[in-house]
Amino acid sequence: MQKRLTKANFLEDDMDWGLKNRLARIIKPNDRRGVMLAVDHGYFLGPTERLEEPRKTITPLLPHADSLMLTRGVLRTSVDANFPIPVVLRVSGGTSIIGKDLSNEKITTSVKDAIRLNVSALAMSIFVGAPYEHESLVSLGNLVNEGEEYGIPILAVTAVGKELEKRDARYLGLACRIASEFGAHLVKTYYCENFEKVVKSCPVPVIIAGGPKLATELDALKLTYDAIQSGASGVDMGRNIWQSDHPVAMIKAVKAIVHQNVTVKEAHEIFKKLKGEAKTAKAKTAKVKTAKVKAVTSA
Ligand code: 5RP
Repeated sequence: MQKRLTKANFLEDDMDWGLKNRLARIIKPNDRRGVMLAVDHGYFLGPTERLEEPRKTITPLLPHADSLMLTRGVLRTSVDANFPIPVVLRVSGGTSIIGKDLSNEKITTSVKDAIRLNVSALAMSIFVGAPYEHESLVSLGNLVNEGEEYGIPILAVTAVGKELEKRDARYLGLACRIASEFGAHLVKTYYCENFEKVVKSCPVPVIIAGGPKLATELDALKLTYDAIQSGASGVDMGRNIWQSDHPVAMIKAVKAIVHQNVTVKEAHEIFKKLKGEAKTAKAKTAKVKTAKVKAVTSA
């Protein structure tokens, strides 16, 4: 029986080698933090804004993420297998935003297929307090059993459905703790007031989702900073990165908060500088193009 994973022994030597190695690809051992890029939204939202063509959204961001969270469909069709990015595979689903009940998810991808895809972790949603709470928690227990057989860690996503708009420390703390009690190796939740309470009462690392796009990039950087200051081990962020007009600048600024401990102000400076550089590069390319067209037409 392998030793239970806790925040204290996380990534230490007495863990199962495979589990430890996979986790180290997601949460970096030097600072015990990670930047996971979430692009799994289509599994229940369909062609989400700015993720309509996944390859176009994902490709420029790949070099800047520590890991990538997505479904097998988008992985196989839209990510270059030659690019060495650790994959966190979403294996739960079965509902849609226009369907009856978002909480009625089941495991839809086998562990065998996940192994074939060489994944670093499996992810599934749990729906604490929702109609299918029981089914989702039992599924989590079963997935942990199966994942541990092969040394594959499980990320539990504490989903907040349509009917569950409770983003407070009491609810999220309850959901995260239950996920860890079922054996999840990592838990993803939302940032909220008193977030340190959520982190403290969850014995495994907690990462945060960004949620719907906030009004400004500065707001998203502040959210990231506050979560890290409260003890989060990183982010599993999607829309606040790729729905920005400057997604590469945004992921780099988020990464600086997570891995370099920069302040919100410093991260925002990084964002603005990279955004400016990207604009200049775009203008230069446009100028060259126009000059080429002029040269061809006047020849
Ligand atoms: C949906 C998910 C998403 O991956 C998660 O919400 C992160 O993305 P975002 O930062 O856009 O909220 O698991 O269930």
